[in-house]
Amino acid sequence: MKIAVLVSGRGSNLRALLDAERSGAIAPGEICCVVANRPAAPALDVARAAGKPAIAVDHTAYADRESFEAAVAQQLAAHGAEAIVLAGFMRVLTPGFVSAWAGRIVNTHPSLLPAFPGVRAPEQAIAHGAKVSGCTIHFVDNTLDGGPIIAQAAVPVLATDDAKSLHERIREQEHRMLPEAVKLLADGKLAIDGRCVRIE
Ligand code: GRF
Repeated sequence: MKIAVLVSGRGSNLRALLDAERSGAIAPGEICCVVANRPAAPALDVARAAGKPAIAVDHTAYADRESFEAAVAQQLAAHGAEAIVLAGFMRVLTPGFVSAWAGRIVNTHPSLLPAFPGVRAPEQAIAHGAKVSGCTIHFVDNTLDGGPIIAQAAVPVLATDDAKSLHERIREQEHRMLPEAVKLLADGKLAIDGRCVRIE
């Protein structure tokens, strides 16, 4: 299964996926291209270093979300993508795009959803006084971080944490869990049943 990875930032989750691919851990999944909406995203360098097509589609160059997504879709088609992983991709996708890829887009989010959807989830967890947070790997639907949950890992919130330190420990769990979820997807072992994902 050819998988496109969409990114906006640092690319540590992308790196975890590339490492997993190299060791055979996501086969028959293979990363066919990496698309960033920010041309300066360090994740593009991570992709280039791994010899992957690294494509910038600068969202600021497009008049609206639809035309930006049409340009992304063109790249996905050109590289034969069959599924999409959002690995720190910071743009909301339109219902039209999500419907076209229903059941084939996976996102990683740095909280235990449905707690703290949206941006700055680690900061939200600390501001709320949560004692436990974590990460969620989920299918993308037309709700904000609300799609069916594939996997979650809990991470304690320490009294000494700030958003950065908490996010770093959450990332460690994402790096472990995202490749596992991608492997299940590529193996065709994830079945969406309403809100629930059955692992077959
Ligand atoms: C991850 O924590 C992801 O959950 C969130 O953005 C972060 C991306 O980190 N959506 P990186 O770019 O993979 O290092």
